[in-house]
Amino acid sequence: MRLEVIVLAAGEGTRMQSSIPKVLHVVGGRPLLEHVLNVASDLSPDTLNVVIGHGGAEVKARIEAPDVAWVDQAERKGTGHAVIQAMDNVDPSATVLVLYGDVPLIEKTTLEQCIAAASDGIGIVTVEMSDPKGLGRILRGADGRISAIIEEQDATEQQRTIKEVNTGILAASNATLAPLLASIETHNSQGEYYLTDVISLAASSGTQVTGVNAICPEEVQGINDHIQLAAVERDFQRREAERLMVSGVTLADPARLDLRGTLTAGRDCFIDINVVIEGTVAIGDNVSIGPGCVVTDSELADGVVVEAHSVVEGAIVGSRCRLGPFARVRPGTELAEGARIGNFVETKKAIIGAGTKANHLAYLGDSTIGAECNIGAGTVTCNYDGVDKNETHIGDGVFVGTNSTLVAPLTIDEGAYVAAGSTITSKVDSEDLAVGRARQRNIQGWVPPTKRK
Ligand code: UD1
Ligand code: CA
Repeated sequence: MRLEVIVLAAGEGTRMQSSIPKVLHVVGGRPLLEHVLNVASDLSPDTLNVVIGHGGAEVKARIEAPDVAWVDQAERKGTGHAVIQAMDNVDPSATVLVLYGDVPLIEKTTLEQCIAAASDGIGIVTVEMSDPKGLGRILRGADGRISAIIEEQDATEQQRTIKEVNTGILAASNATLAPLLASIETHNSQGEYYLTDVISLAASSGTQVTGVNAICPEEVQGINDHIQLAAVERDFQRREAERLMVSGVTLADPARLDLRGTLTAGRDCFIDINVVIEGTVAIGDNVSIGPGCVVTDSELADGVVVEAHSVVEGAIVGSRCRLGPFARVRPGTELAEGARIGNFVETKKAIIGAGTKANHLAYLGDSTIGAECNIGAGTVTCNYDGVDKNETHIGDGVFVGTNSTLVAPLTIDEGAYVAAGSTITSKVDSEDLAVGRARQRNIQGWVPPTKRK
């Protein structure tokens, strides 16, 4: 059976009080709509249609989804109207699954159950909520079957006490759904075409409506305002933290890790509190990330230790390297095995050899540095002349003394020494000692100034 998905994402999201279209607000570092498209893609649908309206151009521009057919809903006349806009794209023989762009945590297993229920008529995902305020209530007949959905605005006091609500997510064959959609009208308090009206139309014409229970209310939480956005963010983070712990990662506190992207981890890794992981991060076995670190789009090999408050972005870090505390490792940094980037050291486009140490207070940019070098505290590669970025090349086993200024373009060959406090502007040959500073002179009989009375 063909499966075609329609995602509703045209609503304005007035309560977000924002100029950003609602479905572009972010949970776990990704737009709401991207979460929905990801789970939809997991179902391998034949087509994936997204109904856009408010901020549609922005939504299209932001979401990279080559498989999506974008459908414009020029005037927002309700959820039923939105689905009708996409029905032209849907094959007559297909099963249609309707998802909401602002319900990002929906799980694949729930959707599969909903699709399975559509083989008997209509499958609809419902959930019991302790506080169902604002949501459509599920009405059931004496036989327990679903007979209708009533929106809160249109419900009686009695109906408002019902805790089972409509999540909005439903599935039906095109043959079942299309004629029902054609019959819905706008006789309701909002004057809209309600998708929910297909339920009572179906029930009264003898079509079976099967409720599928969501796993938990969090899974189907819709986002209408920033309070719900923050709550969904926490639920998402809890789920991600649990996934990591199940895969073997030790988290000092699952509530104090924020994952805004994808983290893959080997065995016996430890992540301390208040760590933020962004983009795509892969860590090997026995990696330890200290408190307050931010790691973005990087690879950390086995045994890497990142100490407290380090910021690592776009880096490839070899096994058993130690970073931090307070290291700033910027894009284009590649550290070979056992390198050490200590406190207040910044690297950028720096390729650093095995066992090399820059333990404190340095800037290493546009540089290649060999193995087993010692880069003293206060070493600065002067890579920028105001126009161009210039490179520094340092061979294996070089010793750069404290507070040295390396003016690029510059080459220091292997085994060379740079005396502390030097400004080095020309090539240093292998094994040479470069001293680039004024010679010390001591003035004898120096009379210090005396204070005026
Ligand atoms: C809808 C349901 C309600 C359910 C609730 C769950 C209806 C009539 N009501 O109410 O039973 O409990 O969702 O969250 O369906 N949209 C469009 N075009 C439109 C209108 C809406 O694309 O013309 C999209 C929105 O972007 C959103 C979704 O449809 O993703 C739901 O719209 P919303 O206005 O939030 O519906 P609710 O009033 O919350
Ligand atoms: Ca809503």
